[in-house]
Amino acid sequence: MHKFAIFGSGSGSNALNILNHFQKSNQFQVGLVITNRKGAGILQHAAHFQVPSLHIPSNEFKERPRHIVSTLRDHQIDFIVLAGFLLKIPDEVVEAFDGKMVNIHPSLLPAFGGSGMYGDKVHEAVLKSGVSESGITIHFVNEHYDEGKTIFQAKVEVRKDDTAQSLRERIQKLEHQWFPLILEKIMIKIFKAGAH
Ligand code: GRF
Repeated sequence: MHKFAIFGSGSGSNALNILNHFQKSNQFQVGLVITNRKGAGILQHAAHFQVPSLHIPSNEFKERPRHIVSTLRDHQIDFIVLAGFLLKIPDEVVEAFDGKMVNIHPSLLPAFGGSGMYGDKVHEAVLKSGVSESGITIHFVNEHYDEGKTIFQAKVEVRKDDTAQSLRERIQKLEHQWFPLILEKIMIKIFKAGAH
């Protein structure tokens, strides 16, 4: 059984969806949930699924990156999923999980990505720019925000009457539809495991 960790800072709707999806897997298991925000909804989801969770304060990511790596190793984690995690991942963690860490971003990267582009800021920028489509990007994580190699994208049309909220809701549906399936595919490839 391969164990992966989910990192999140927010409500954790993607984390919940992933926990649900892998609940019955006999290949891949969510082995740890990590958040930098004490009250994050993601902690409740972990508890519900009886998955160990940790609150690691933001400054620890900066100041004790090696400790993060050893914590992950202690939990036998060999893959990391970022699902709404708002901190920059320290280089030491990126190196330790090179090619084994993915993120989901609510736009068609490279457009509307980078530092400060998260949540509704992304959707507001999309609407302001007048582009006709947006979507989701699932990508590997490297040392730079939202710049790792793209694995998968799916698109939605941007409508004339869209608000940040309506666009966010449509994009969230796409995230929930695709993220667990793509994760499973990637992990099967990386670990050469069979489909369950
Ligand atoms: C998602 O839109 C994801 O693309 C972005 O952060 C959001 C997380 O939402 N990286 P949730 O916490 O999973 O509901």
